[in-house]
Amino acid sequence: MSVRYDDEKLCHSFEPIHVEDVEDRTHESLHLLLDRKGPGHEFLGWMDLPLQSPEEFEPLSRVAEEIKSSGDLLVCVGIGGSYLGAKAVIHSLFPENDRIRFAGHHLSPLELSRLLKELENKDFYINVISKSGTTTEPGVAFRFLKQLAEKKYGKETSKRIIATTDASKGALRTLSEQEGYRTFTIPDNVGGRFSVLTPVGLLPVLATGGDLKKILKGAKAGYQQGSLDDRQNPAFRYARNRKILWKNGKAIEILATFEPQMHYLAEWWKQLFGESEGKEGKGLYPASADFTTDLHSLGQWIQEGTRNIFETFLVIEHYETDLAVEKSRQNLDGLDYLTGKKMSWINRKAYEGTRQAHEDGGVPVSAFYLDRLDEENLFELLVIFEFAIAIYGYTLGVNPFDQPGVEAYKKNMFKLLGK
Ligand code: PA5
Repeated sequence: MSVRYDDEKLCHSFEPIHVEDVEDRTHESLHLLLDRKGPGHEFLGWMDLPLQSPEEFEPLSRVAEEIKSSGDLLVCVGIGGSYLGAKAVIHSLFPENDRIRFAGHHLSPLELSRLLKELENKDFYINVISKSGTTTEPGVAFRFLKQLAEKKYGKETSKRIIATTDASKGALRTLSEQEGYRTFTIPDNVGGRFSVLTPVGLLPVLATGGDLKKILKGAKAGYQQGSLDDRQNPAFRYARNRKILWKNGKAIEILATFEPQMHYLAEWWKQLFGESEGKEGKGLYPASADFTTDLHSLGQWIQEGTRNIFETFLVIEHYETDLAVEKSRQNLDGLDYLTGKKMSWINRKAYEGTRQAHEDGGVPVSAFYLDRLDEENLFELLVIFEFAIAIYGYTLGVNPFDQPGVEAYKKNMFKLLGK
């Protein structure tokens, strides 16, 4: 167990109400999940993914290795749950890897043109990812990328495209079969935002250098923590706390980190939580902040603005790479008092100071501590978050595994596009 949840002082900054009701309701919700009897139970395949063995991934590992050793670029085409897991992990663990690009998660002509131009002079693989196989954003981007690949590679194009999609349904499955692309399957019982441990997340992560054994070890630790049947379960405690805070009028949760490499982890979390809980007029708004950067922008609001927020920090305990401040000749910048101090220590003090200030300002705070930023810790945390949102969704009485609200904009857009 490398991930630790500290909620000891969470309720110090206010007198919470409804605590006992919520405790019972969260217990029922945890059991509903573990017994697989709650709403959306047909989408609980994500609970089994942490228990997979590395051998089950042999074909996937082989393709990942081929991409990795080719030295070519990998363009991942997907949106929402079909890209955020990979993006979060790669940005957190391999930010120096400049051989990965993401497309199909917007409709910007500027960004897509820039990418197509860059690819004209480079060799590349495409991993097109869509569970439904019909989503507009990745569909449009893939059409452009496929045409470029065909121009460049001719008959060899099919060796350059890997599709990750449903086992039998959708336009992407049909297209892949006709064009002879290699394919990987997203299990029917795993929704997009819970798919980081399927080929959706794992092909890009392994192709950029992820270690499968460590990933599965971390995921299993997350599973073990998330299935604990007592108050030691961090997912249970986090879900319970969120429900207490929501019932006490808090509307917004800010996930705050002091590590810029974790920026996209918060983006992944926002999608996982937002799509799972925001329905039927209920749910917290999941927001995020990158500190200390945002202390010079959002910091004022968090300290003194409307008191309808609470904060969850993500903190890394140990850094492998660090810097120590050296003594300067004349101390003109006045920073000699930091001589010999490590950047990680300065960052930690910034966290401690911020946490205390926000607490004093009436913001309830808690934190997840990661022993270090690596595959094991990260995947443990991802799985704990998956358990937490499932439990929390059940406390609200919603189905955490559907997303009916996403269809509204699509309906209007299709009408305007003349589909
Ligand atoms: O969590 C989800 O299910 C969604 O966010 C989907 O991942 C997203 O809409 C993309 O869908 P698809 O993979 O079908 O293209």
